[in-house]
Amino acid sequence: MDKFVIRGGEPLLGTVRVSGAKNAALPCMAAALLTQEPVILENIPQVRDIQTTRNLLTAMGAEVELGYGRAQHRTTIQCEKLEAPEASYELVKTMRASTLVLGPLVARCGRARVSLPGGCAIGARPIDLHIKGLERLGAQIVQEHGYIEARAHRLKGAEIVFDKITVTGTEDLLMAATLAEGETIMQNCAREPEVADLADLLNKMGAKIEGAGSETIRVKGVSRLKGAKHRIIPDRIEAGTFIIAGAITGGDLNVAGCDPEHLGALLRKLEEAGVKTRPNGESVRVMGDNPLKACDILTEEYPGFPTDMQAQFMALVTQAEGSSIVTENIFENRFMHAQELVRMGANIKIEGRRAVVRGKSPLSAAAVLASDLRASASLVLAALVADGETIIDRVYHIDRGYERIEEKLKGVGAQIRRIGELFPKRAAAQARSS
Ligand code: EPZ
Repeated sequence: MDKFVIRGGEPLLGTVRVSGAKNAALPCMAAALLTQEPVILENIPQVRDIQTTRNLLTAMGAEVELGYGRAQHRTTIQCEKLEAPEASYELVKTMRASTLVLGPLVARCGRARVSLPGGCAIGARPIDLHIKGLERLGAQIVQEHGYIEARAHRLKGAEIVFDKITVTGTEDLLMAATLAEGETIMQNCAREPEVADLADLLNKMGAKIEGAGSETIRVKGVSRLKGAKHRIIPDRIEAGTFIIAGAITGGDLNVAGCDPEHLGALLRKLEEAGVKTRPNGESVRVMGDNPLKACDILTEEYPGFPTDMQAQFMALVTQAEGSSIVTENIFENRFMHAQELVRMGANIKIEGRRAVVRGKSPLSAAAVLASDLRASASLVLAALVADGETIIDRVYHIDRGYERIEEKLKGVGAQIRRIGELFPKRAAAQARSS
């Protein structure tokens, strides 16, 4: 398993470019199941979850071309015939978002067999709201042997009210409703920009969707959808992660190719923490020359402070004078990074859904373990400011959602390198000699 070796202490200077949003690309790739015509998606991030989704779609019978570099990070997906409308446990257990194929498959093929995702590091991650919504649209659903078997002759439009706000639940049912007979009104929907981006693609494919990005979405079902071309929005969480990297290292960093509109809650909190940021068109400049101040955050659904930025913000406030309270309202177990930060010298006490972070704590390099995607990002941020050389193991977690992060960080002055286990002796020697 690959590791990162990071020597802390370098302020990040210059410009780093953000990739396309993983959490918009995943539902948009699933949307290609809704038509027999080719769907072309640009600005696709080169991350593992995209490859996993490609494998998932091709296993069903789809043709998926995926090219980076000159191909401008583009995928062309054509689902002319779907021999096996199913998502196996082997694939779903590696990427929970595979359940995004459930709605499109039932809508397109009238049947779907999708593995229940099981839990993950950050929580139980049930999909009961996806299932309830599909039943509201007329699907018959049976759960057995760890799989969901869904069937529907043709889905029928209905009123759906989500008991809880769910991002992929909203996306799954939005896709299903596009081919349902009649009108569907969905309430208490997720308002994340990735939901609006998916609706943008679906409307280009001929769907009739209004209100995406707000809490009420109306969909007029159509009999078929056509192919389309769409550019995925920038990744607001990658952008936020790099903005915090500029702040925590006391640098002067221009985070380019992002949408500052999607970063409101984070930028407001960074200002409270004493970080100067300057949004400018499609970039945000962050200047970390002020001392950091303690600042509380509560994670909420968009447009509140994003849970996917909680771990990264916790790393930042370990360097702030005073006590910061981090409250995680979305997932029940999303403090896995805290103990690893404590091993690097942070002062963090967990009390249920709250973490009390007392700073400023000088961090020292250590051998640490990544547990999930955003926890890994938090450890990278801490390592960038820790004294000495940190080794982060299991960086496959970070590769799921950050494109070539070590190259991007190196490009703005970070001392970071990846060591693979391919040559264990050489890797160990490198780690020793630096
Ligand atoms: C999406 O996950 C994102 N993933 C997550 O990003 C993100 O953390 C999360 O939304 C919250 O913003 C993708 O978009 C692929 P939810 P999702 O359904 O849709 C409960 C990352 O780091 N719930 O909005 O799975 C659930 O347990 C990932 O990129 C139910 O109870 O999250 C949670 O407590 C991590 N029943 C809350 O709702 C359901 O049927 C929000 O979950 C569905 C969800």
